[in-house]
Amino acid sequence: MASAQPALTTALTVPVPAPAGTLRSRVSRRVGSIPPSATLAVDAKAKALKAAGRPVIGFGAGEPDFATPQHIVEAAVAACREPRSHRYTPAAGLPELREAVAAATQRNSGLACGAGDVLITNGGKQAIYEAMAVLLDPGDEVLLPAPYWTTYPEAIRLAGGSPVEVVTDESTGYLASVDQLAAKVTPRTKMLLFCSPSNPTGAVYPAEQIAEIGRWALELGLWVVTDEIYEHLVYGAAEHVSMLVVVPELAPRCVVVNGVAKTYAMTGWRVGWMIAPPDVIIAATNLHSHLTSNVANVSQAAAVAALTGGLDDVVRMRAAFDRRRGVMVSMLREIPGVACPEPQGAFYAYPCVRTLLGRDLRGRRPTTSAELATLILEEVEVAAVPGEAFGTDGYLRLSYALGDDDLAEGISRIQGLLAELS
Ligand SMILES: Cc1ncc(COP(=O)(O)O)c(C=O)c1O
Repeated sequence: MASAQPALTTALTVPVPAPAGTLRSRVSRRVGSIPPSATLAVDAKAKALKAAGRPVIGFGAGEPDFATPQHIVEAAVAACREPRSHRYTPAAGLPELREAVAAATQRNSGLACGAGDVLITNGGKQAIYEAMAVLLDPGDEVLLPAPYWTTYPEAIRLAGGSPVEVVTDESTGYLASVDQLAAKVTPRTKMLLFCSPSNPTGAVYPAEQIAEIGRWALELGLWVVTDEIYEHLVYGAAEHVSMLVVVPELAPRCVVVNGVAKTYAMTGWRVGWMIAPPDVIIAATNLHSHLTSNVANVSQAAAVAALTGGLDDVVRMRAAFDRRRGVMVSMLREIPGVACPEPQGAFYAYPCVRTLLGRDLRGRRPTTSAELATLILEEVEVAAVPGEAFGTDGYLRLSYALGDDDLAEGISRIQGLLAELS
């Protein structure tokens, strides 16, 4: 259909809502104001260039480059043949998957919970949305440490809440302190949305700091939604610690979000979950039953195989990420003016590029990280996500979940380009 609608996005600039009177007059204000996911937009642009034959190297993707381990795929094939998989199943998830999640959670993070405390969702993303929908009323404020995962503010806003950013930077390794959080509390503060290991920074909060934040939230009566989807991807001396393990008293006001996507190279299968108090599980299950019913049974069977099949494949993939992490960080640090804290977890580096902005480069002068990311893509065909997507201009996010050769080639292209800065 021919349309006079203005384009919502250009190049790698962070998408903005449509101006009043255009999209908004046709779709609701609530949904019309949601920008598309900037990370997916970068990835799509890189893939489109690649499909057109360009030698693009993409650092934008938030997913492992490995195939899902074979035993998980086989379990899904078997589930396809089972007539039970062809029917609706309970909205909260297959009982065996809820059991497997509870057992894996106890085994992996030490958090004791039962199958009844678990709701299976279409990815961790849906668990975040449902947690916000269940817990927030219009006007409620949510403390959101920045840089944050790009979906969080939209999930909060869709539920009628307001994200209140607590900005951190490389000087503290992107860790928010209790003092920083406390400075943003108002009478409307209802929740802290916490993520460790972090997307986009790779920061992993130490156990004592998690305990301090948890105790502080408990004292204030705040809810905590803690996103632990990268729990298995920690490196060196870093350790993943679940907030509820160190502050168990927070359980009546805490939602833990997790999923199989990042740990088992299963982003396309769409299985995540929340672990929450009974009233939240009941409310979220009711919502879920009207929204999507059960998660696809074949995917749920695959998730059971993932959670019960041991961690050998996870260890293998983590070793590859760790090796690539070392290469990426040392190459980024070779670029004059780039500050790159060593990521302790997930699979992203988040270098600060602020000192590179406002300088001449191939006839242009990028003044924001979005402009710099566009220039890098156009000039050397390397895709990185600008920091604006995560609430902080002046940074780039580069995923190291790609092959070793591509990684080295991509960063050396960036090095070569930025050597021309004047
Ligand atoms: C911090 C964080 N939480 C949750 C998710 C959601 O993952 P999924 O919906 O694929 O399970 C992602 C995916 O990028 C993420 O980075």
